Amino acid sequence: MVLTTFEMLKRPRRNRLKASIRHLAQECTLTANDLVAPLFLIPGEKKRELIDEMPGIERYSVDCLVKEAEILHAQGIPAIDLFPAIDPFIKDHEGSEAWNPQGLVPTAIRELKQEVPSMCVIADIALDPYTSHGHDGIVNDREEVDNDLTLEALVRQSLVYADAGCDILAPSDMMDGRVKVIREALDSHGFQNVGILSYCAKYASAFYAPFRGAIQTNLAFGDKATYQMNPSNIREAIREALLDEEEGADMLMVKPALPYLDVISKIKEKTTLPVGAYHVSGEYAMIMAAHEKGLLDAQKTLFESLIGIKRAGADFIFTYAINQILDLLN
Ligand code: PBG
Repeated sequence: MVLTTFEMLKRPRRNRLKASIRHLAQECTLTANDLVAPLFLIPGEKKRELIDEMPGIERYSVDCLVKEAEILHAQGIPAIDLFPAIDPFIKDHEGSEAWNPQGLVPTAIRELKQEVPSMCVIADIALDPYTSHGHDGIVNDREEVDNDLTLEALVRQSLVYADAGCDILAPSDMMDGRVKVIREALDSHGFQNVGILSYCAKYASAFYAPFRGAIQTNLAFGDKATYQMNPSNIREAIREALLDEEEGADMLMVKPALPYLDVISKIKEKTTLPVGAYHVSGEYAMIMAAHEKGLLDAQKTLFESLIGIKRAGADFIFTYAINQILDLLN
């Protein structure tokens, strides 16, 4: 039976009639200003190499990375996040290259501050790019990641990055108490203005696999389930978020993003801090792989993924889809 007009006063389609009306009715937006570009560093000069596991994404030597950052910033990207792929022979059990002031990340930070001073430089705090075993912390003889020993190493790494001029440190290690010790160390060394963006809810995720290829690390044993979170849990994520806020975090982040939209939305309700989300390597790579097979359109699906993450409540998004989104926005 067909309804008469009289019977149907409410027609949601009126708000979708044409693009101009759809614009007015649009509830959230995605702009270049919402995006953080994770960038990968390699040693050497004038070097760029494509990453097999992440179509379209490259590793850069410091000079090339600075140029790339300049281009991104000129297009409205406010911040980048640095990850190093260091030579395997420099890696050791403790990850001691993490606090070498002449290391790849501190060197890049100094150059970036010189050449692109208005860009926000974020650096990941964790030991996995630097340890021979690939874990995020210091491992004891029972093959466990030792929380409190790792905190000392993270503080050293944080102070070296802060001294190089890093704007925001992003601890991604998931050790207990790290935000507090990093905050205290920064403050007692005169780095009161260096911020902490805590990966408060970082899940033990299979979606990180392409990233491990990008920084050329592999777990020598075990997995990360004793420090990263169980994908089944949300109340635990809220607990982690509130603890990090209490310990002095300036911003919080959920990672990965799409399988955890409920976590983003719930944490957003529970905290007054800005909440970000990390659309991780696997989330990017699976869309790119499907695109390469002709199964879907990468640009459209990446945009839809990111707008969904914003709709869930994310204030900013770390993503590898920067170029596709910039193309679409322009
Ligand atoms: C390391 C770190 C990881 C990512 C960011 N920081 C990998 C991991 O925890 O194993 C993953 C990012 C991505 O997949 O894009 N602490």
